[in-house]
Amino acid sequence: MGSFEGDLRGARILVTGHSGFTGGWASLWLAQIGAEVHGLSLPPETTPNLFEAAGVEAACASSAFADIRDAEAVQAVFDRVRPDLVLHLAAQPLVRRSYRLPIETYAANLMGTVHVLDAARRQEQVKGAVCITTDKVYANRETDYAYHEGDRLGGHDPYSASKACAEIAIESYRSSLPSWGVDMLIASARGGNIIGGGDWSEDRLVPDFARAAARNEALVIRNPKAVRPWQHVLCLCHGYLTLLAEITRGNRAVSDAWNFGPDRADCVTVEEMLKRMAQHWSSLKVEVVPSIQHEAKLLMLDSAKARSALAWQPAWTLAETLAETTGWYRGYYEDPSAARAITLRQIDTYRGRIAAPLPSAGTAHA
Ligand SMILES: NC(=O)c1ccc[n+]([C@@H]2O[C@H](COP(=O)([O-])OP(=O)(O)OC[C@H]3O[C@@H](n4cnc5c(N)ncnc54)[C@H](O)[C@@H]3O)[C@@H](O)[C@H]2O)c1
Repeated sequence: MGSFEGDLRGARILVTGHSGFTGGWASLWLAQIGAEVHGLSLPPETTPNLFEAAGVEAACASSAFADIRDAEAVQAVFDRVRPDLVLHLAAQPLVRRSYRLPIETYAANLMGTVHVLDAARRQEQVKGAVCITTDKVYANRETDYAYHEGDRLGGHDPYSASKACAEIAIESYRSSLPSWGVDMLIASARGGNIIGGGDWSEDRLVPDFARAAARNEALVIRNPKAVRPWQHVLCLCHGYLTLLAEITRGNRAVSDAWNFGPDRADCVTVEEMLKRMAQHWSSLKVEVVPSIQHEAKLLMLDSAKARSALAWQPAWTLAETLAETTGWYRGYYEDPSAARAITLRQIDTYRGRIAAPLPSAGTAHA
């Protein structure tokens, strides 16, 4: 068992975005360690989806479909659940969709976060919240530089800017708590490109690869040379759960922003990812269709703070991440009813890895 898990056993945790990819994995992990998980999301929007495939709803003590853009709806869920802790993942998370739907993206990502934090600060039993933003919150100079938490926020596309706005709102809530007489801790987590089984979102490399491989179709990509900090979803959940546990311990230093990035060697190009995934699954015909929409070409995170202050480090390398991820999708396409067992087995494998002493982080990390 990870050292943080005991702190979360029995905790009543509201997970927003539990019907999504990351929220599904986080909810199942939390339920597995004996937390009382309550979900708040919109219904899953893809078919298939992890929520149904892995039985996420059944693992939750309650599950509500409500819109975080609606302050009263969010408050009603808080009034019913009365959580000890909040893991806020719900968002419009897609860059290309944000160009099509900028208003909806700001409404969900900025005002949705404000609605969640405002409901949280009105309930005295809430010990704290962990709000998930993204590595894209930094004003990206597109140079060989790994961003650290103090770097300037920015955002070219509406998604990135909406998450940078959310970071400013989070910081403001953190600073305003004493003025409201509220004792609560608020962390924000900035992770990289999250991959793992059960994601079927549009315009993401691994889901696009899985769909194309399952149908034996060509894979269309936009930026073969783009470098991303690829990470398994469990490495991120590990960071998020560590922050929640630190909140339950009353560690005030946790009320801050945190980067969770992979080792530098695991920040590779899209092209390289395709080569490595093909080794595990199948070689696909790839078509490069450049997009007129701007997307960052180079993005890396400096996670030294999380590594030293939280003793967090990704327990799976990119090679392990790709083996587990392709294994998940292959298992699913062979037998969709196996998805829950595969997901729980991967969570157990990851938990086993972090329960064992980790090798030292080394010097070269992003
Ligand atoms: N996947 C990545 O690579 C990545 C990287 C960095 C940060 N993130 C962040 O992690 C979080 C989870 O991302 P994901 O990839 O699991 O996304 P996802 O699309 O799989 O899940 C999004 C979740 O948010 C919910 N949601 C969206 N709009 C909502 C609304 N208006 N009201 C209530 N619920 C709403 C959805 O129902 C779903 O449960 C997001 O905040 C995202 O920005 C993701």
